[in-house]
Amino acid sequence: MTADFQDWASSRQARIETSLQTLLPAADVPPERLHDAMRYVSLGGGKRVRPLLAFAAGELGEADEERVTIAAVAVELIHVYSLVHDDLPCMDDDVLRRGKPTCHVRYDQATALLVGDSLQSLAFQLLAEHHLADDADTQLEMVKQLAQAAGSRGMAGGQAVDLASVGKSLTLPQLEFMHIHKTGALIRAAVMLGARCSNTLDEDSLQKLDHFAKCMGLAFQVVDDLLDAEATTATLGKTAGKDAERNKPTYVSILGNAPARELATELRQDAYRSLESFGEGARRLREVTDFIIHRTF
Ligand code: IPE
Ligand code: IPE
Ligand code: MG
Ligand code: MG
Ligand code: MG
Repeated sequence: MTADFQDWASSRQARIETSLQTLLPAADVPPERLHDAMRYVSLGGGKRVRPLLAFAAGELGEADEERVTIAAVAVELIHVYSLVHDDLPCMDDDVLRRGKPTCHVRYDQATALLVGDSLQSLAFQLLAEHHLADDADTQLEMVKQLAQAAGSRGMAGGQAVDLASVGKSLTLPQLEFMHIHKTGALIRAAVMLGARCSNTLDEDSLQKLDHFAKCMGLAFQVVDDLLDAEATTATLGKTAGKDAERNKPTYVSILGNAPARELATELRQDAYRSLESFGEGARRLREVTDFIIHRTF
């Protein structure tokens, strides 16, 4: 990672942090405990990869940064909600997230459910309240895209497949279906919402970006599976070895570590190919791609 990319990423991550600070309800506004918990799970942690993808796609179309910030915050809020629910005892039953006790451990299960519900609503409220595109149709398309990505034909559907697959050995197409939905859908929404904040990208460009995002969405979860098997709890800030412990089918359990790593590399190449025609404009998208593939946490 170059120092220039590090600066670019840090400034966007800081922007997301300050925006979340102001857009989340204050902790002293009733119901205080719920608002405190929403801030606890959203602030001060996470790699903010989905926002980085939204900013990188926005830059390709020279989109207004204020608009992209709102779109990026909306996607991050859905992501954080998915983590809070993913950690619940009825799902992965995890006690550590982003280096801190999980929401239901720090607060309680009912609060964790309501935090997820409230973060999801806030995401859509932001998309409705702010001016994100020059025409209303494009803005509605963004709302629809995030709704589909979060719902039963996206993230929540992928999570359902994940839970139904415990103890089973999936075929590669089944595994790919699960990953594309539980993780890929939201990554794809991040790229496309960022891109739609600009009005300079034509349909052909949007399609290329969509293919890029599909590759990266799958690659993201392949690397997550690898890290679960290879990294430590201390570096991850979440419990390592959880997939094997809970008998989850993953690219690692089905292919093995080295072929899973090879698949991540192939997906990176495929992603790069879809950016070829953009030239220098897609520089940040390539850099975020490499960050996703080579990350250590
Ligand atoms: C973890 O996502 C959950 C998956 C979808 C694999 P991240 O690795 O992006 O988690 P944070 O946001 O950095 O904590
Ligand atoms: C999480 O997949 C996907 C979502 C939260 C939607 P994992 O269960 O592998 O994520 P981690 O490893 O707990 O972050
Ligand atoms: Mg899970
Ligand atoms: Mg989990
Ligand atoms: Mg995982």
